[in-house]
Amino acid sequence: MKTRLLFFVLFLVSATSFAQRIAILGAMAEEVELLQSQLKHAKTKEILGFRFKTGKLNGKKVVLAETGIGKANASIVTTLIIKEFSPKIIIFTGVAGAVNPDLNQGDILIGKRLSYHDYGRLTNDSLKFYPTRNPHTKQLNPQFFLSDSILVAIAGEAAKGIELKKITTDSPQPRVSVGTIVTGDTFVASSVAVAGFRRNYQADATEMEGAVVAQICFQQNLPFLIIRSISDKANEAAPADFQTFKKVAADNSAILVKSIIKNLE
Ligand code: ADE
Repeated sequence: MKTRLLFFVLFLVSATSFAQRIAILGAMAEEVELLQSQLKHAKTKEILGFRFKTGKLNGKKVVLAETGIGKANASIVTTLIIKEFSPKIIIFTGVAGAVNPDLNQGDILIGKRLSYHDYGRLTNDSLKFYPTRNPHTKQLNPQFFLSDSILVAIAGEAAKGIELKKITTDSPQPRVSVGTIVTGDTFVASSVAVAGFRRNYQADATEMEGAVVAQICFQQNLPFLIIRSISDKANEAAPADFQTFKKVAADNSAILVKSIIKNLE
């Protein structure tokens, strides 16, 4: 009972402090399309060629942007959105390749831990993990950046009230879980790489932007949350599966993000 009360108080406190402008990022048009189509009083501001859409989503003030694919693009747009719009939180929505064999197309992963899989020290044997460094404090960053724990809890709650799209009419209802995401500048289409990500990072999914947003938010002391839905299994079938399933996966991620925003009241 005490734990439930504590959770409720934490929820209220967080909801109050998050009730300012929320930044939402997605890498590709498909990943922001659904949210963009539901934006009320939408206005567009262009900065350095990137389009930022402000408006209201589920009654909350948001700013929405498509970053483009990969680490450099995600980095530019995350920085611009912080500088220009001073959001209180940043949420990334999009698709990912599954690394955990229990995850299927359409399932959602709430990214609790984020790391790069392509940052480190390249030796004759392998790429050895070496952490990034915070340029302000000169300290080494942690191996894993952690999504805001209250936002992760809110996302878990928000997932209970949503209806996700099925991959086919007779496929099971997509599931939502919490886990680890590894980010790199590569579209992964290799079961050998997947095995390595599982072994070295205990990863559940891989994508190309999440850890960038996580690192920037960590260094700027800004709460963030990374939501991904599975489009493929990052294996040899990934290029074809990605094309087939990216839209339904992108929409599932956006459906959860909408519900999270509603729960931030
Ligand atoms: N996003 C979706 N699928 C992916 C994959 N297989 N590799 C990297 N990013 C992805």
